[in-house]
Amino acid sequence: MEQKSLMEKIISLAKRRGFIFPSSEIYGGLAGVWDYGPLGVELKNNIKREFWKSMVLIRDDVFGIDAAIFMNPRVWEASGHLESFSDPLVECRKCNQRFRADHQDLILEHENWHKKRGEEVLWTEPKNFNLLVESYLGTVEGEKSKVYLRGEITQGVHVNFKNILNTLSPSLPFGVAQIGKAFRNEIAPGNFVFRSREFEQMELQYYVYPDDKESMEYLEYWKNERLNWYISLGLKKENLRFRMHEKDELAHYAKSAWDIEYNSPFGGFKEFEGIHHRGNWDLKRHSEYSGEDLSYFDSKTNKRFIPYIIETSGGVDRAVLFFLIDSYFEDKDRVILKLHPKLAPYKVAVFPLLANKPELVDFAKKLYNDLKLNLNFKIVWDDRGNIGKRYYSQDEIGTPYCVTVDFDSLKNQDVTIRDRDTAEQIRMPIDKLKSYFEEKINK
Ligand code: GAP
Repeated sequence: MEQKSLMEKIISLAKRRGFIFPSSEIYGGLAGVWDYGPLGVELKNNIKREFWKSMVLIRDDVFGIDAAIFMNPRVWEASGHLESFSDPLVECRKCNQRFRADHQDLILEHENWHKKRGEEVLWTEPKNFNLLVESYLGTVEGEKSKVYLRGEITQGVHVNFKNILNTLSPSLPFGVAQIGKAFRNEIAPGNFVFRSREFEQMELQYYVYPDDKESMEYLEYWKNERLNWYISLGLKKENLRFRMHEKDELAHYAKSAWDIEYNSPFGGFKEFEGIHHRGNWDLKRHSEYSGEDLSYFDSKTNKRFIPYIIETSGGVDRAVLFFLIDSYFEDKDRVILKLHPKLAPYKVAVFPLLANKPELVDFAKKLYNDLKLNLNFKIVWDDRGNIGKRYYSQDEIGTPYCVTVDFDSLKNQDVTIRDRDTAEQIRMPIDKLKSYFEEKINK
């Protein structure tokens, strides 16, 4: 399959089948902002649910939090974002278009565009452009106070460190996980939802003893945990790799940093998730700026110190995009999204063989309602067109199982189950469906 057209196919499928739409599209959209449709929100929620399960629900050492998007602006001074959260920007003096100075391919493309028109391009000197999005709170004009939409969800965890210690008294090492929106005034949003101005992150802040050797071991541990999580949900191992950040590209807070990268159809391996050793940067800075003591008292050693932080920071929207790309298959004119059953927006579709036979429709509707009530996942009804078209339609959105009620079902109390990936069909008694699907979907 030709790589460039794969991306076009994904974008078109996402729009056509209700995964992702341009935001406020009827007004012409808004660059770098996207809406998730009925199918997209299910896929996204499934990814977030699996993240939460693996990082919080099944672990004794990680707790959850849901901090606010607006924060006291001093947070962003302390965190270093007001000073250092920027990208180098150049502006074309000819047409005033702005580009990231480190995006050489786009700069070259722009120069060629002008050259074709016989024009020479002159660029401004690169200047640092802060990515924090500003807003204003308050009701009195002139007295409104400037706030920032959070540029990363991380700080909402660290400013609550004392609250977590006071309420749960956890022992080191322990972590706090969070999922939520972040906002960045990206100079060059693009590649569909890959680089957006409003996006969601799923993160863990893991507090460890401030010991260089031990903290590096935890960094290694979390790198592997996170890579294996993506693989366990069906991403192809060969499309994932680690990349270490060079000294000159480390973020202002990082002692050491790695990316999990995905082999994308738009220019090869791209950042997917960051695994960072943040040292004691955040807690130390928030202690200094707030005047609050954010140290940890270790009752085993009777020592007080500021822990180190190991962070895992993934993009939910990038996960949606990469799971879509990785699961996309074509079999002649059939498109199949081979999403892991845990991630598939709809797990089971129920059909009557013929939509104009009331006895089949009544039987199938009753079965559909029973399954909906008894299974803890999204089930869908489909009686449009013929059965072949329904299979094609469900394959294209990744529904792993289709259940068909036919005339034999009325006599024998059984149905046909058709498997998305193999197209094989088996006959199954109705009273076995619940346990069958529970096992298949949660495997
Ligand atoms: N707390 C650390 C942090 O925010 P980051 O590397 O800037 O680190 C973490 O971001 C992850 O968030 C990235 O690996 C990516 O998956 C996602 N992300 C960052 N900027 C994004 C954007 N503009 N659009 C979509 N996802 C983005």
